Amino acid sequence: MLGHHPRYAAFMLRRVSLILALSLALQIAGQQARRPAPATHRHSPSDLEVITLDPTGRQKPSIFLSRAYLSSLPQTTTRIHADEDFPELPTSGTRISGVDLETLIHAIDPSNPNLAAVAICRDEYISPFPSQTIGQHHPILALTMDDLSPHAWAVKHHTYDPSPYFVTYQNFVPAFHILAHQDRAQHPAEIVGLKLLPTSLLVAAITPPGADQLPPGSPILDGFQIAQQNCFRCHNSGETGGKKAHRTWQQLGEVAKSRPEFFADWVHNPQSIDPKSKMPPNLKYDQATLKALTRYFQTFAP
Ligand code: HEC
Repeated sequence: MLGHHPRYAAFMLRRVSLILALSLALQIAGQQARRPAPATHRHSPSDLEVITLDPTGRQKPSIFLSRAYLSSLPQTTTRIHADEDFPELPTSGTRISGVDLETLIHAIDPSNPNLAAVAICRDEYISPFPSQTIGQHHPILALTMDDLSPHAWAVKHHTYDPSPYFVTYQNFVPAFHILAHQDRAQHPAEIVGLKLLPTSLLVAAITPPGADQLPPGSPILDGFQIAQQNCFRCHNSGETGGKKAHRTWQQLGEVAKSRPEFFADWVHNPQSIDPKSKMPPNLKYDQATLKALTRYFQTFAP
């Protein structure tokens, strides 16, 4: 019949798509109506604190997103398996559901497509996600594991509890390497906050002086790129970066300048110097990579 009456078919198609569009709009409206509003205070340990900046770069008062709010956003589901980063997971895999960081950032601030996100963990470890990284790797803020909250999952399996939130990926493929440093999946867990800021501001405090005069491939620029993805997670410069290590960028600069050999040996294998060190070793870093980091950090010596 459709073949015999093309106009009728087109008319019906238009009607059907109108009905579909209407029901989709109603569904979206319904979802938004059910979506709890962000709060100005923390009501639950699982609330995610979100820090944003005003146009002058000053921090606005935090907002707090409940688990119910995060669950009301479109969800992505994937399966992750035990590996180097998640040894506690079953080898058969665990079904993970959560919100894409892109989706979450867009829900919080639809006006700025180039925002970076910094995941802030309970112990002040951070994971920086520049907008480019987000676009390349599509990190997911995980809300459930096999349909349970991460806490309930951990209790059931008698294992490490990454709650309230952690970041994972559908399929992480390294996007770059610099000297002996390879692009690494960031897997922050015990995430309690998220800071959104323009990607250009993310690394402003750790950009070496005169960076734009340096030729690409100069050791200082290589060291800068590596430090952003590695050292920045635990070491801070002012308000940006992790505070887990309690050693600032300037303090590292001081060590790099006054004791360059110690600095390189330390970065390569801290436990060979201090067996109790909590800093992860970088055994794959060769001399050129260690040298680039040393040169870069020297530019921050007071
Ligand atoms: C996972 C967290 C973590 C990361 C990532 C990290 N560090 Fe550290 N770092 C620490 C901690 C914690 C300390 C303090 C003492 C200790 O436990 O070793 C420290 C101490 C140091 C020290 C001081 C050594 C001393 O005693 O004078 C230097 C230098 C240093 N880090 C350099 C780096 C550099 C360079 C990078 C990046 C290549 C880096 N760290 C990445 C956690 C980290």
